Amino acid sequence: MMTVREILQNKCRDIYSVTPQTPVFEALKIMADRNIGAVLVIEGEKLAGIFSERDYARKLSMEHEFSKNTTVRELMVSDVLCIGPEKTVEDCMMLMTSRHIRHLPVMDNKKLLGIISINDAVKTIIRGHEFEISGLKISYESIMEAWAHSIDLREKQREGHNQRVTAIFIRLAHKMGIKEESLVNMRKGALLHDIGKMCVPDSILLKPGPLTEEEMAVIKQHPFYAYNLLYPIENLRPALDIPYCHHEKWDGSGYPRGLKGEEIPLAARIFAVVDEWDILCSDRPFRNDWSEDKTRKHLKSLAGSHFDPRVVEMFLETKW
Ligand SMILES: [Fe+2]
Repeated sequence: MMTVREILQNKCRDIYSVTPQTPVFEALKIMADRNIGAVLVIEGEKLAGIFSERDYARKLSMEHEFSKNTTVRELMVSDVLCIGPEKTVEDCMMLMTSRHIRHLPVMDNKKLLGIISINDAVKTIIRGHEFEISGLKISYESIMEAWAHSIDLREKQREGHNQRVTAIFIRLAHKMGIKEESLVNMRKGALLHDIGKMCVPDSILLKPGPLTEEEMAVIKQHPFYAYNLLYPIENLRPALDIPYCHHEKWDGSGYPRGLKGEEIPLAARIFAVVDEWDILCSDRPFRNDWSEDKTRKHLKSLAGSHFDPRVVEMFLETKW
């Protein structure tokens, strides 16, 4: 696993900083020109804080009064969390997601070495998985299937899960009248539905015992990670509905956004039923292999709360 020091070596070495007296608009211009989301605030030789676009947006939404003279001091976060250079990218990711922060200054014995953003961490993790994929000698054309397969490989008990749910999903979506051209993108979304789990550390994803509340919160970020990973890839952007929305529930109690009813894209509503079916019926040690009959009753009991009732009805009409 790559260390924070190695990530810093791979990125631009310049540290962009401002002082607490720098006008906010000047700091924003520095960030826009360099395409970065945050700058460090240095006073004397010391790290006095961090100022990010998000801090600015937050104050804007609170109708904070700005003038040309508003300085960074008014908006910066001075209670800054730092990370050491020998920590791993996993530690970095864990710290950022559990504390809801996007930038971490790197300090070595009070010496400032640089700054790591959540994007740097995500890119590093993805590069690691690409390396694993190339080790499987898979052709470039099937890179997407390989990517999906690598998610299964990581969670060993999911063997074949992605392929199975995708196949059933396509049949059900077809039965529900979804047109062929839409199915192309939905298929990609189904295959990559849990791609966001690539950004969840092994220590949480593969933990044998029950998860703490904090660990569960990290797992629940995986649809957001999927969004961040897929949105920049233009031809995967139309496939986002399932990766981003497959944990939403019909009654609004799901995550990440708590969408309700038909606010949830249809593809994600269909996929959610199929995913639950495969999770319960597939041979997982801790599930004790539910019978088809028991799983069907379970799905029926959740129609109208967890699942779209029309989708459950259509699903239960067929023997899969
Ligand atoms: Fe998921």
